Formats: sequence, structure tokens, C-alpha cells
Amino acid sequence: MSSPDGKPTTSVGVVGLGYVGLPLAVAFAEEGVDVVGVDYEPRLVAAIEAGESHIEDIPSERLRAVADRISATTDYSRLATCDAVLIAVPTPLTRNREPDLGPLLSSAQALSNVVHAGQLIVLESTTYPGTTREQLVPLLEESGLAAGRDFNVAFSPERVDPGRTDYTLRTTPKIVGGLTPACLERAVALYDLVCDEIVEVSSPEPAELAKLLENVFRSVNIALVNELAMLCDRMGIDIWEVVDAASTKPYGFMRFEPGPGMGGHCLPVDPFYLSWKAREYGQPTEFIELAGEVNQRMPEFCVDRIARALNDHSKPVRGSRVAILGVSYKAGVGDLRESPALKIIQLLGRQGAVISYHDDYVPEVPELGYSSEPFDAVLAECDVAVIVTAHPGLDLERIVATAPLVVDFRGVTRHIEAPNLVRL
Ligand SMILES: NC(=O)c1ccc[n+]([C@@H]2O[C@H](COP(=O)([O-])OP(=O)(O)OC[C@H]3O[C@@H](n4cnc5c(N)ncnc54)[C@H](O)[C@@H]3O)[C@@H](O)[C@H]2O)c1
Repeated sequence: MSSPDGKPTTSVGVVGLGYVGLPLAVAFAEEGVDVVGVDYEPRLVAAIEAGESHIEDIPSERLRAVADRISATTDYSRLATCDAVLIAVPTPLTRNREPDLGPLLSSAQALSNVVHAGQLIVLESTTYPGTTREQLVPLLEESGLAAGRDFNVAFSPERVDPGRTDYTLRTTPKIVGGLTPACLERAVALYDLVCDEIVEVSSPEPAELAKLLENVFRSVNIALVNELAMLCDRMGIDIWEVVDAASTKPYGFMRFEPGPGMGGHCLPVDPFYLSWKAREYGQPTEFIELAGEVNQRMPEFCVDRIARALNDHSKPVRGSRVAILGVSYKAGVGDLRESPALKIIQLLGRQGAVISYHDDYVPEVPELGYSSEPFDAVLAECDVAVIVTAHPGLDLERIVATAPLVVDFRGVTRHIEAPNLVRL
């Protein structure tokens, strides 16, 4: 890649060194680019400087292998020397479920003090259409420089799926939309270093909305299959058998798994960025709202299912020992954000259940005051074992053989027939 003056890009800055930012930083460093990573968490910065990765997809050895090309800091001024800066800070919701652009705006404000002529700034955080142009650009222009004329701006959504190994940053097509054709050209040249295929769109807005379409699509389809799971429970039909059968159709159907509810930083959050923005245009986004409602209801349904299973074993919820297996929001990662397990634990706790949990990926759940207990101990001492998140290698046979009652919300015990086994 080269900057407008024709020089090759030798340094990239990454703001926010989390699930998105750290893999990006490592990918560029692996291509020989010098990377400056900025995060406002001093402990995180110190760990990365010491070669310790906090992201499962980036083993510490991989980080250490490029240690001479990555430096982490809390100091934004270090970005002044970078040819390009990628912003990968969180975009959460407020308590009222409205977009919280706080991290994005404060990082943009800090960048306005360092942005220089010829620099490229790319927003990677998921957000509503218009954010790059309406929110990021005005703050960057407080520098006195003009976006599109003095420096370049683009939006390129991150599509990483934590824990996934079949599609990587390199092999997943990367959507890019620039403020001007020149902005697009520079951003494409940058991502060419780390991605095999770039998908160019006409401006930042379609790129912003494409990412939201992807997430809304998943949210709506997961809600649909979850709603069917609740119906199947009443009708006495096995939802997994239904999904397996429907999935044999070679066209016109895409498989989605039912489960205890949606978690993570993306699906429970991002669609509401779009529904919030849509209100400005007086256009209801009913699919988004409805999918959110159905998915948010799942933990309550799960608790009701556990209560019925206990009842069938002549046990009340109050005083029963419930072993939760897996508390992160998805298999193979330790991310607790918006995890339905937390809601299930809280709801069961309110009903008087005595809860323990085991999760190799999550040593503790500080907000609820729990620590992971040994697998054998939670199984030996429970009245019911509940599979909320089935991490790779979970010994399902042992669970069914040891626990007096097992409730499986992930359908992973489909190959086992046992009288003490209940599935979603
Ligand atoms: N996690 C995913 O799977 C995923 C996938 C695609 C897109 N995204 C999107 O990417 C963005 C980042 O998500 P993430 O999962 O990497 O978040 P994260 O919480 O894992 O990482 C964000 C990092 O930014 C840092 N940070 C926050 N405010 C900052 C500031 N003002 N200055 C510097 N650093 C700051 C935090 O300390 C944290 O380390 C979000 O918009 C998210 O929706 C995430």
C-alpha cells in the first residue's frame, strides 16, 4: 500500500485492542507493518507489551512472534506517526437501549489532536449508517484539516466470529466504503495487505448498513427458530429433529440453531443501533424489535423448563442444587457479555436455587460473585446439571451418567437416550 505521496505504508495504528483490534494489529504486524496499538486500559496495554494475549483467537505465542513490530500504549500521541489508524472501540447500548457512542466519540476527539495530512482513518466498530460522516468526521476535522481533502476516512466493518477457524480475517471478504473515491482507494490498498478479497461499496453508509443487515439477519433467524423451539416444547415435537430434517433441503433454507438466547457484544446490541436510527426517519423496524423480544425471553423459558424438569423429579426449584455447565455466550470462547447464562443464573437464584457452575473458559463471574468449580464436583453435588454452553470436549456421557437430571439447551446430547435427560 502507498500513501498519497507514493511512499509505502509502514505503520498502522489500532485504537481499542479487544476482540477486533488485537487480531487486526497482529495481522498487520505479521505482514511486516509496524503497529501502534492504543487502549485506555493500562493493565491490558501492559499485558500486551509483555506478550500476553487476552483474546482466545490470538495465542500469546503468536503475539510474541511479532513483538518487535507491535507496541501497545495508552498514549494517543504515538499515533501521530502512523500512516493509517483503525478504530475498533466498543459500540454498546445505554441503559435505555440506545446507541452509546461514548467510546467512539472520545477516541475520535483524542485522534483529532494527532491526525495529520495524508493519514487514513478507518472506523471498524459496528454502528448505524451515518456515524462515520455525521459523528466521526466532524470531530476529526476539529484538527483544522478537512476529511477527504487533507486526510482520508473510510468505514470497514469487522466480521470476525470469535472462536471460528474456517474463516479468518484473511479469507473473509472485507467490505470497504470511503468518504471519497481517493479514501476508498487508500483503504482498499491497506486491507489488501491482510485480506484476500475486498468488497468496495460507494460510501461509508452502505458499508455501515451491510454489517447491520448481517447481524439483524442472524438475530431474526435465531428468534424464529427459538420461537419454534418453544412451540415444539408445547407440541411434544423435538425441535432438533425438525431443524435437522429441514436442513436437508439443498436450497432456500439456512440452518440456525435454537438455544438459551443470544449473547455476545454483537447480536443482542447491534440491531438496536439500526432501530434507533430508523426512528429518525419514521420507519418502524418491527422485525428487529420482535426478534429482540423473542430472544430476550429465552432465558425465562429455560428457567421454566428447568423448573418443570425438577418438578417431574418431585423437586422444587427452591433449595435444589443446579450445576450450570458453560456460562460464556458461545462455545469455545470465554466472553461473558450478554450471556444468557447470567440471566438464567439470576432468575434461578431469585427462585431459591443453589447454583454452582463449571466453565473452563470463565474462571469467575465477578458481577454475580461466582467462581468456576471443578467439573466432577459440580456434577457429583447437583440435583440437575444444565448444559447452557457446550464447550469443545465437554464430556457429555459423563454428565448424563453422573447427574441425576440433565437439561440440555444446546442439543448436544442428541446421540444419547436416557431417562434423566431433557432437551430444549
Ligand atoms: N467481538 C466481536 O465478535 C465483534 C465482531 C464484529 C464487530 N465487532 C465490533 O467491533 C467493535 C469492538 O468490539 P470488540 O468486541 O473488539 O470490543 P472489546 O471490548 O473486546 O474491545 C474494545 C477495546 O477498546 C478499548 N477502549 C474502549 N474505549 C476506548 C477509548 N476511548 N480509547 C481507547 N481504547 C478504548 C477497551 O478497553 C477494549 O480493550 C464493536 O463495535 C463491536 O460491535 C465485534
